[in-house]
Amino acid sequence: MIRKCLFPVAGYGTRFLPATKSMPKEMLPIVNKPLVQYGVEEAAEAGLNNVTFVTGRGKRAIADHFDTSYELEHQIAGTSKEEYLVDIRHLIDNVNFSYIRQNQMLGLGHAILTGEPLIGDEAFGVVLADDLCIQENEGQEGVLEQMVKLYNQFRCSIVAIEEVPVDEVNKYGVIAGESMGDGLYRVTDMVEKPAVDEAPSNLAIIGRYILTPDIFEKLRTTPPGRNGEVQITDALMQQAKEGCVMAYKFKGRRFDCGSVDGFVEATNYCYENIYKKG
Ligand code: G1P
Repeated sequence: MIRKCLFPVAGYGTRFLPATKSMPKEMLPIVNKPLVQYGVEEAAEAGLNNVTFVTGRGKRAIADHFDTSYELEHQIAGTSKEEYLVDIRHLIDNVNFSYIRQNQMLGLGHAILTGEPLIGDEAFGVVLADDLCIQENEGQEGVLEQMVKLYNQFRCSIVAIEEVPVDEVNKYGVIAGESMGDGLYRVTDMVEKPAVDEAPSNLAIIGRYILTPDIFEKLRTTPPGRNGEVQITDALMQQAKEGCVMAYKFKGRRFDCGSVDGFVEATNYCYENIYKKG
């Protein structure tokens, strides 16, 4: 059973300055809901009810968001405005939140390793809240839920992937793998942000992972890679060499909300397809 989900949220969000000068980028709203709440809802729907934030300076608004706000709630008690808080209250009642600080920004791999004391010796999910994943129709499961099912079958680390235009591979971790059908690949190669002409494919990793706990051992000995940062992609490549890592072309729609274009696209999509439909 996977019960825990880690959210690395220590990053600065410089692409959204000045909006993110004193506000965490994860709190930017897509219509009326902060980006990070979409991710936490996806985790909770997949049964990952223990959420760990690997956080940093200036991120207190995230902890406050996932907590009761007595004054506000007292003010609107009994009014029609209470309905706006139904979803967040549901999360607060059903999810355990914990926080640990990453006090040096040494990369995504380092952020994940920082969460080890709160994860321990069990498989866990990772959500990069910048990647917003939306179900395209009512019956579709969230991406993490799809991945948890695969984990229960294969018991190894799994990364979510998507085909991207060839000239964009340098923005992602990119895999090569043996196809096993149904959008599933057994990873044979994995490179963090390769040059366009050196990429092993156009199958890009997006911000959803299931990791087995031996990843921590691997991360401890992973040297800094691309951009001088400890990369989760490099640690996963070690796992793939020694055992098995799967890559899964998920069902659903993903928006890169770490970029202004993706953020605006997500906002328009969610406004039309979620907000307006109530
Ligand atoms: C991170 C990972 C990369 C992955 C991407 C998905 O990069 O290092 O492998 O493809 O997330 O969003 P970042 O976007 O944080 O630079």
